[in-house]
Amino acid sequence: MTETDQSPRPVLVLNGPNLARLGTREPDVYGAMNYGQLTGFCEQVGADVGLAVEVRQTDSEAELIGWIHEAVDSQTAVVLNPAAFTHYSYALRDACAQRTAPLIEVHLSNPAAREEFRHNSVISAVADGTIAGFGANSYALALTAIATAR
Ligand code: DQA
Repeated sequence: MTETDQSPRPVLVLNGPNLARLGTREPDVYGAMNYGQLTGFCEQVGADVGLAVEVRQTDSEAELIGWIHEAVDSQTAVVLNPAAFTHYSYALRDACAQRTAPLIEVHLSNPAAREEFRHNSVISAVADGTIAGFGANSYALALTAIATAR
């Protein structure tokens, strides 16, 4: 980007399995905001901090890995909620390890305060950082971190 190029920086916000079911999925854990509302929230926060946010969700590990490859090849920053893949997908981890731009892991809930199988993330070591436990604000904090990174 040149000094005169003020076009918003693209960011992919990628969501793993079951996250399209927000709103009705365990609202006591994940909150009342549905997936469409989360998408709108991320787009609005992104616009506020000068980012062009595109939000996607898939239940497919292969599709999610393909999107990470796309981000790697285009040097696009990623906010990633890997959902349950967080805890066991070495294939997703290996894709994230190839990152060429910031990649931030986010969670709506705080997995460290939940069942033991959620305590380990195989993604954290190949992310620039992890933000968990703040509901939709986890995404807002990650987008702000990308927008203000030095
Ligand atoms: C989650 C936490 C994961 O443990 C879980 O499998 C999810 C959602 C979260 O955003 O809190 O699907 O990533």
